[in-house]
Amino acid sequence: VTRHPSFAVIGNPIAHSLSPWIHQRFATQCGIALVYETMAADDASFQKKVKDFFANGGMGLNVTLPFKEQAYALAHKPTARATKARAANTLWMEHNQIYADNTDGFGFIKDINRFMDLSHKTILIVGAGGAARGLIQPILDAKPAQLIVANRSKDRALSLQLDAPEIICADLSVTTTACDLIINATSASLDGSILAISQACLAHKPLCYDLSYRFNEPTPFVLWAQSLKCTALDGLGMLVEQAAEAFYIWHHKRPETQSVLNVLRQHHASGIHI
Ligand SMILES: NC(=O)c1ccc[n+]([C@@H]2O[C@H](COP(=O)([O-])OP(=O)(O)OC[C@H]3O[C@@H](n4cnc5c(N)ncnc54)[C@H](OP(=O)(O)O)[C@@H]3O)[C@@H](O)[C@H]2O)c1
Repeated sequence: VTRHPSFAVIGNPIAHSLSPWIHQRFATQCGIALVYETMAADDASFQKKVKDFFANGGMGLNVTLPFKEQAYALAHKPTARATKARAANTLWMEHNQIYADNTDGFGFIKDINRFMDLSHKTILIVGAGGAARGLIQPILDAKPAQLIVANRSKDRALSLQLDAPEIICADLSVTTTACDLIINATSASLDGSILAISQACLAHKPLCYDLSYRFNEPTPFVLWAQSLKCTALDGLGMLVEQAAEAFYIWHHKRPETQSVLNVLRQHHASGIHI
């Protein structure tokens, strides 16, 4: 029996992850045979599951919510990007050591640049979890006028500011700065809740970007932004771009992303489950 190299994504919830489909698509494009599965974990089992995966010959692991900070913490060899973020979404094994990178910021910048140049823009990130951590440095590198971060629990935003003093920490309900771009980096859409962003932030009709995405329907954040006459995008584009960067790290081949994103959007629009 031929055993193909084994890859997976670990998270919670994870059953509906599109990563297996995306990575298989990239693999077909590049003429590579691989297995890519989903793995569920909880806080108590995460570390053991990661170690077992690599001990059993696993080649590469993507990490999604809520484990990106834990993934960084367990890695022996984080890249500069992962270290800056203190969060990781891409793991692999070399010389018996776990390496970690963070491709979220790269993926976000690639996708957002299809729509906006971030230099001199006023940008609000809502959320301070693993995904938000990955975005901060790549956004700062694009030289925005201001980068404001607001989070439900203030402590988590303040700890993010310790790592990146250039950002402004704000209280979501009292932030009134008119923004050019608002990024939802919370997992609020998992339970359908609406963020308490003040209308003043929307004075300039900002582009609203949701890191989340939903099958066959807009996310609550996208619907909310559209109801206020703002252009809104979901995170499918970023998902494909961060996956392509992880694929490049593991296979040293750069897949073409636009056609994969197009198929994904067609499937979503027509209600076909992948
Ligand atoms: N498109 C992509 O490629 C991509 C990549 C990465 C992540 N994502 C998405 O980004 C989201 C965040 O992921 P993550 O890894 O950062 O998760 P995480 O580490 O678990 O962080 C979750 C964040 O959401 C906040 N939050 C949760 N429920 C909320 C609510 N009802 N109201 C306000 N804030 C709420 C949390 O605030 P507290 O600190 O107060 O708990 C925290 O800041 C997920 O939906 C994930 O699917 C998408």
